[in-house]
Amino acid sequence: MLVFTTVAALRCYLRSCQLGVDRIEQAVGLVPTMGALHAGHLTLLERARQQNSIVIVSIFVNPLQFGPSEDFQKYPRQLEPDRQLCEKAGVDVIFVPTPEEMGMNNGGVFTASVALTQVVPPESMTSVLCGRSRRGHFQGVATIVTKLLNLVQPTRAYFGQKDAQQLAIIRRLVADLNLPVEIVACPIVRESSGLALSSRNQYLRAQEKEEASVLYRSLRQAERAFLAGERSSAELIALVKLELAKVPSIELEYVESVDPTTLIPLDKIEEVALLALAARLGSTRLIDNILLRNRQPIVAIDGPAGAGKSTVARQVAQALGLLYLDTGAMYRAVTWLVLQSDIPIEDELSIAEIVCKCEIILRMSDETLAPVRVWINSQEVTQAIRSLEVTSQVSALAAQLSVRQELVKQQQLWGEKGGIVVEGRDIGTHVFPDAELKIFLTASVQERAKRRQQELKNQGEANLSLEQMQQNLVLRDWKDTNRDIAPLQKAPDSIEILTDGLTIAEVTDRIVSLYREKVEQG
Ligand code: PAF
Repeated sequence: MLVFTTVAALRCYLRSCQLGVDRIEQAVGLVPTMGALHAGHLTLLERARQQNSIVIVSIFVNPLQFGPSEDFQKYPRQLEPDRQLCEKAGVDVIFVPTPEEMGMNNGGVFTASVALTQVVPPESMTSVLCGRSRRGHFQGVATIVTKLLNLVQPTRAYFGQKDAQQLAIIRRLVADLNLPVEIVACPIVRESSGLALSSRNQYLRAQEKEEASVLYRSLRQAERAFLAGERSSAELIALVKLELAKVPSIELEYVESVDPTTLIPLDKIEEVALLALAARLGSTRLIDNILLRNRQPIVAIDGPAGAGKSTVARQVAQALGLLYLDTGAMYRAVTWLVLQSDIPIEDELSIAEIVCKCEIILRMSDETLAPVRVWINSQEVTQAIRSLEVTSQVSALAAQLSVRQELVKQQQLWGEKGGIVVEGRDIGTHVFPDAELKIFLTASVQERAKRRQQELKNQGEANLSLEQMQQNLVLRDWKDTNRDIAPLQKAPDSIEILTDGLTIAEVTDRIVSLYREKVEQG
C-alpha cells in the first residue's frame, strides 16, 4: 500500500496506472474520509475493493466544513490505526494531504477566511436539516469532494447513508456539474444497541453511548407507525420526540421528514421519505436517519452462471404474485431495437442515443411460467427478442457502459414501486442495494457443468465433455467476478443458497419461505 501526501505524487501514480503495461483502463474507487476510521468506513472500503481494480482512500480533516465553534481542532486524528485498517482492507493508496497542499494555505479553521474558489450547492438543499445550524458546512463538503473527484477522477466514489444530506448534495453536485463518476451509497452500520457508527462516537462516555441508542429507537418507532399506515410527517415526528423525551440528557436539534433526493420537506409521505435528526449529548453532536418507503418488497437474486437464477426467479415471482423483472429481456429488447435500426453494434455513441430514449414495458404473462411479455417503444417484441440474431448480439450490447447505465436506471425506476423479483450478478450490491431480500444462488462447478451439459443436450446442441464444461465455467466465473462493468458480487447481507442436489422447486420453496419469514413477518 502506498501513502501519498502530495497532489503531485498522487497524480504521478494515477498517470502510471492509466499507462499500465497492457494499457487497459482500470476502474478506480475513491473513498473520501476524514480518518478516525471505524467499521462503517470498512464497509465502504470493502465495497470499493469488490468493485474496482484500484482503491484510493483520502484522509483529510477538511477545515472548510467546520464552523468557528465546531470541533476542527479536537476532531480525532489517528493515522497509524487508519493506515493499518486500510492495509488490511486491501486499499492500494492512502492520500493524506495537509490543508496547505489542498490550497487552504491558512490551515483555516474559519470557512469564510479561506480565499479559495468554492462550490455552492443549491440553497434548498443546504438550508434544511443540518444546514440550519451548520452554515457553510455543505459548501465546504461540496468543495473538497469536487477537488478530490477532479484529482483522482475515479470510476466510483463511496459515501455512507448516515450522512444522508451530504449524500443527496453530492449526488446533485455530480449530476449538475456532469462529473463522470458513479456515486455509491453504503448502508448505515450500527452497534448492537442501534447507535450508528461515527468517528464522533469517540467523544462519548460509556453511559452516554447507552443513552445515545435512543436516537435509533425513536426513528424505529416512527418507522413502525409508518409501516402500519401513518403517512403524516407531523405525527411521525411527534412519535420520535416522544421516545427521545425518555432520555432527558438528549437535546434534540431537529427531526425532519424530507424527500431523500431533493431534501424538500414533506407534510405527507406518498412514496418515500428521509426521516433525519440531529441531537446533542453533552458537547457531542450526533446525527441519524431512516428511510421510510411505501413500496412493495424487492427480491434480488445474484449468483454465478448456471446456478439456475432465471428459472428460480421466475418461479419465485409466480409463487409470490410479484413481477419477474426480466433484465435479460430488457437487454434483448434493446438489442432488437438496435438491429432494426441498422446501427452497427460497435457504434456505441449512436446506440447510447437510442437507448436513452427507449421505453421498455414488461408484464407478467397470463399463462403460468410463460416468458414475461415485453414491449419496446410500444411494439410487442416478446417473441422477436428470442431470435438467433438477437441471441448472438445481446452480450456485446450488454457490455456497453451506456447501455448498462441506462437500463440500470430503468430497472431502478421499476424498483421505486417494488413488488419485483430480479436476478443478475450485481443486483443486491449495485442495482437494488436496499432490496428487502437478497439471495446469492450458487452451485459447485461440477453441478453447474452437469446442468449446462443437460441443457445443451435438450437443445440438441454440440456436446462438450464435462471437464471442458467445468473449465469454461471456471473461466467464466473469473471473468464475471473481475470485469469492470457489473462484476459478480455477493452482497454481505445476502443469504447464500447452495443448490447442489436441490430441485428448482426445492430452491423456490426455500426462497418463498425466507420471504415469508423475513419480509412478510418482518
Ligand atoms: O463524510 C465525510 O467524512 C466528509 O464529509 C467527507 C465526504 C470526507 C468530505 O470531507
